[in-house]
Amino acid sequence: MKVINSICEMQKVANELRFKGRTLSFVPTMGFLHAGHSSLMRLAREKADVLIVSIFVNPAQFEPGEDFDRYPRDIEQDERLCEQERVDILFYPEKDVMYPRDFKTFIITENLSNRLCGVTRPAHFRGVTTIVAKLFNIVKPHFAVFGQKDAQQVLILRRMVIDLNFDLELIMAPIIREPDGLAMSSRNQYLNKNERQDALVLNQALNIAEKMIASGEKNPKTIKSEMMIIIHSAPLVNPDYLEIVDFNSLEPVERIAKDTLIAIAARIGNTRLIDNIIV
Ligand code: PAJ
Repeated sequence: MKVINSICEMQKVANELRFKGRTLSFVPTMGFLHAGHSSLMRLAREKADVLIVSIFVNPAQFEPGEDFDRYPRDIEQDERLCEQERVDILFYPEKDVMYPRDFKTFIITENLSNRLCGVTRPAHFRGVTTIVAKLFNIVKPHFAVFGQKDAQQVLILRRMVIDLNFDLELIMAPIIREPDGLAMSSRNQYLNKNERQDALVLNQALNIAEKMIASGEKNPKTIKSEMMIIIHSAPLVNPDYLEIVDFNSLEPVERIAKDTLIAIAARIGNTRLIDNIIV
């Protein structure tokens, strides 16, 4: 595996590979890699000749007072996981390389980045779109894989790719869960034993919603109230939002239909977790 820190070198290598007719798959991450990230790498590997992964904890997508400084980092372990997944190139730039002192350009997806997670994290998606656009211009992939775990992120990036004519295919990969149902996340390691136990209600509430829909329930209000009963049964879980929305506009739906996103965010102690299903 080749590790590249410099933007110029990454662009040069990408150009050379493209010139040779090789196809490139890309998985952007913030590191502290787990089985969710591995699943994206495997999917990406199937799509193209060369698999490129980036690790960059992006300061622009953290709100003031969020966990940027304490976000878990372990580059040696991450490199080992990338080697195991047969990653060809690991792009691992420094903060000042990606955001030099006079950096001034940001990308905003209007009317999407202010909803769901954007209500409490108003600058978050502007940071995500900006860094991902930069990474696309540096890595020059044909395919880029993102997890449904961050469904709003996928939707916003898909919008950006279409609106700004990025010449690549964006692929959404399914959510990978722990055996007990908790969606895998680099932030799960912040949870203590009781918090970890209570966190299971997020997935349990989504499972109930799925069952209700399978048995014909179409009313989002009825589904939400059943879900809230489960969420409120866990004293350590503080819901941030529970939304049933169209997975294009992110507008609330009146009736459950195809492409409906049921998304939850909650604070458990100092940790903010998200989970979702797409109907
Ligand atoms: P990060 O949280 O490291 O996640 C990197 C990718 O892994 C994202 O596409 C995310 O949706 C996916 N992922 C995380 N947990 C997953 C799980 N349990 N199952 C499936 N996929 C999962 O998302 C980011 O980083 C950043 O916002 C980034 C896109 C890298 C921009 O900085």
